[in-house]
Amino acid sequence: MSTSRNAVEVRLDPIDAGNWRDVADLEVAPEQRTFVAEPSRYLALCAYDGLWTPLAIRAGDEVVGMLMWAVDPAEGAVWLGGVLVDRRWQRRGIGRRAVRAAIELLSRQEETLDFALSYEPENEVARRTYAKLGFVETGELEDDEVVARLRLDGLA
Ligand SMILES: CC(C)(COP(=O)(O)OP(=O)(O)OC[C@H]1O[C@@H](n2cnc3c(N)ncnc32)[C@H](O)[C@@H]1OP(=O)(O)O)[C@@H](O)C(=O)NCCC(=O)NCCS
Repeated sequence: MSTSRNAVEVRLDPIDAGNWRDVADLEVAPEQRTFVAEPSRYLALCAYDGLWTPLAIRAGDEVVGMLMWAVDPAEGAVWLGGVLVDRRWQRRGIGRRAVRAAIELLSRQEETLDFALSYEPENEVARRTYAKLGFVETGELEDDEVVARLRLDGLA
């Protein structure tokens, strides 16, 4: 079986009755647990706060991660959060491809060119993942997390 980083197709799926358990079962490595909440907590937030929407990250037939998004009504930017890839699937290019897919999807769906996210200052992997997609740190802080923003050149 090929181990090429791009061998497996990465898709984003809505969360539904068929996949929410797979999302809830996702695990990051022990040393990464300070960077994100439990997936089940993110699912509950999305179900009840009326702001965030979760998406499952699928590689081939398997649910391998999740992310969530929300529009900030004050600025019109789409915020991404709760980005995580199961520990067994990390370092295969899935996280970056999933965030890129979310940007492509949401720029069209929400008709926005502006994206934002935040991460713990010491989360170097997150910084690296987002920086290569064009996210630039702005000097803003959100709950002690570093804010990075991406402005697309224009909708294709
Ligand atoms: C951040 C995260 C989603 C990245 O997912 P991933 O599928 O492993 O990322 P990718 O394979 O697309 O790699 C993205 C970059 O990070 C690097 N990277 C990934 N894991 C790494 C690790 N453990 N150590 C060092 N670099 C790492 C990759 O090499 C790649 O950089 P490069 O293209 O310059 O080589 C994943 O590490 C994760 O779930 N972490 C725990 C939760 C978290 O911190 N989420 C972000 C909250 S803001």
